[in-house]
Order: sequence, then structure tokens, then C-alpha cells
Amino acid sequence: MHALSATTPADDVAEILLTAEEIAAKVKELGTEIARDYRGKDVVFVSILKGALPFLADLMRATPIPLALDFLEVSSYGSSTETSGAVRILKDLANPIEGRDVLVVEDILDTGHTLAYVIEHLHAQRPASVRLCVLLDKPARRVIPARIDYRGFAIPDKFVVGYGLDYAERYRNLPFVGVLKPEVYGRAP
Ligand code: IMP
Ligand code: MG
Repeated sequence: MHALSATTPADDVAEILLTAEEIAAKVKELGTEIARDYRGKDVVFVSILKGALPFLADLMRATPIPLALDFLEVSSYGSSTETSGAVRILKDLANPIEGRDVLVVEDILDTGHTLAYVIEHLHAQRPASVRLCVLLDKPARRVIPARIDYRGFAIPDKFVVGYGLDYAERYRNLPFVGVLKPEVYGRAP
């Protein structure tokens, strides 16, 4: 196997914003709150691939009630660090959500374009309710308003990677959330 480089993904990180321990403690809190709110309901966690994957995996295990999972994959056109307004569904839900209680589990709310589109798409299928759980919120960046029902952390207007979030499909496997060194941008992959 060819070595792409001698470094590990963590070597490209300038600053850690949230440690694995801080994330784990917050996810536990969110799961407890969600379990309390959804006990006795027919809840489906709808997660958006691929960034929300680690969050979903930890959140569902912190939520001790019966629940189902489903997935959407969307693409938004734009550069690798900026979303444009145009959103497209790449993979739709596997099961009907009509009459069920949907909790959208997402990694980050930035401009709000992606979630506004997703939530409208879900409402069209007549679920009993749709609520939103996001791990990270960048309020300074909001273009389309969104109501967050469960929020992990508000973070400053910085491009972050790790715990599912990528830059050019890399760094999703970092166990923490951090900011990359400036020289990483523009480096050939
Ligand atoms: P929005 O449509 O602008 O709210 O952006 C939502 C999507 O953009 C997220 O689901 C992420 O995939 C991506 N995104 C936004 N901010 C960041 C970031 O700081 N790091 C990595 N991905 C981000
Ligand atoms: Mg995402």
C-alpha cells in the first residue's frame, strides 16, 4: 500500500473546539432528554448521511426507548466549505413516516439551506411531528431560520471537522471537533 503521507489526520488540526469527552457528555444529556420526550411514541430518527453518522450512533445508544432509524442523503452544490442554496436528494427514506414522530438528527446547522429543504421534504409525507436535533449550531451563519429542538453546542463561525464532519471527505474519523491549519486548504488531496 502506498503511504499518502506520513501524517495522521489529527496532525492537520490547529485547534480542538470540542473534545471527545465533552461531546460524549453532551450526547448523553441529549439522549436522556429525547427519551423523556418520546417515551411511548413511534419515533423514527432520520439522519442525514454522511456527516451525522457518529452523532447518530452515539445518540441512539444514549436514548433508552424503542426507536427506528432511517436515512436521507442529500447533496448541496457549492464549494467544499460553503453550501449553496440548491439541495438535491441522493437517497430517500427506506420506510414510510406517515403518522410517525420524526426526529431529524444532523451534525451541523450552518446557513440552514439543507435542513429547510429536508424538513419540507419530510413534512410532505405527513408525519405526526418533525423535530430537529443538531449537535452543532453556527448561529452567525444562518440564512434560513430554523427551530432547533435539541442542540448540542453553539460554535463560532469557523469551518470545523471531525466527529463526522469533513473537509473534502477527509477528517470525519477524528474523535473530536476541531479547526484545520490554514495550510491544509488548497493542499492537493
Ligand atoms: P447548511 O445547508 O449551510 O446549513 O449546511 C449544512 C451542511 O454543510 C452540513 O450538513 C455539513 O455537511 C456542511 N457544513 C456546514 N458547516 C460545516 C463545517 O463547519 N464543517 C464541515 N461541514 C460543514
Ligand atoms: Mg451533513
